[in-house]
Amino acid sequence: MGTHVVTGAASGMGAATARVLREAGHTVIGIDLRDADITADLGTDEGREAAVSEALERCAGRLDGVAAVAGVGPSMPDAGTVVSVNYFNPVRLLEGLLPALAASGAGRVVVIGSNSSTTVPMIDDQLVGHLLAGDEEAAREHARAAQDAAPAAVRATSPTISAYATTKFALARWARRTAVTPEWARRGVLLNVVAPGAVVTPLMLAGGRPEDLDADAFPTPMPLGVFGNPEDIAFWVHQFLRPEARFTTGAVLCVDGGTDAAMRPDAQ
Ligand code: NAI
Repeated sequence: MGTHVVTGAASGMGAATARVLREAGHTVIGIDLRDADITADLGTDEGREAAVSEALERCAGRLDGVAAVAGVGPSMPDAGTVVSVNYFNPVRLLEGLLPALAASGAGRVVVIGSNSSTTVPMIDDQLVGHLLAGDEEAAREHARAAQDAAPAAVRATSPTISAYATTKFALARWARRTAVTPEWARRGVLLNVVAPGAVVTPLMLAGGRPEDLDADAFPTPMPLGVFGNPEDIAFWVHQFLRPEARFTTGAVLCVDGGTDAAMRPDAQ
């Protein structure tokens, strides 16, 4: 049985992923702001560095998998936080854990993106540039300025929707670019993206009640007529983390009840 790091392990999809892995007999090192094996703020350099060094110590330098699930949603009031938590958290964490993943000989990584990276028409190309250049300060500054300049109606409903969709877009692009580099691919470390749609978690509810949700009144199409639950995502994360999943890297899998297909049926 393997040893896996799961970020965001205290809630929602991260908690479901940790549960599925433990039920399969694996050792899970959970990381979160609270209620986890390692408590750390992955939105800061200090938090990421502390989390990486403690995780490396706990796994003795050898890791079978990482599920980078921790993230925030578009109702987060500060676009700078969205930048740091949704993009630089997984990227820096994975850079730090790569040697341990390579040491296992069959490392598996899943990052959680979002179908918003293909369904929300608010991708900020300049922000993508700062993110992929690895410039956290410039990205935070740009995202905050763009947030301030957004129309009042957007700021009132989803204050950081553009930063949210853009960080998830850039994360998927980073994953596809990174997965095929020799440092990852030729060391047997596979890197894939699971891009959820609307999944009922505290993040999606943003303080609302699950019983008030109506799939047919949702702003994006929900062809299956149901929302996802955290286990629907954990199932696919688990598949990508299995050693048998040995011929897929750089893939982006939408797990969204058909939203992306309904909005972009001819995208393939
Ligand atoms: P959640 O709010 O239930 O869980 C997110 C976890 O991340 C929480 O336990 C939280 O404490 C942790 N986290 C947040 N900021 C952190 C930080 N600075 N340091 C360490 N941990 C931190 O949300 P959910 O829905 O399970 O989200 C999981 C991932 O799925 C996120 O990356 C989110 O952006 C993404 N996502 C969620 C969708 C949804 O509809 N729920 C849709 C598409 C993507």
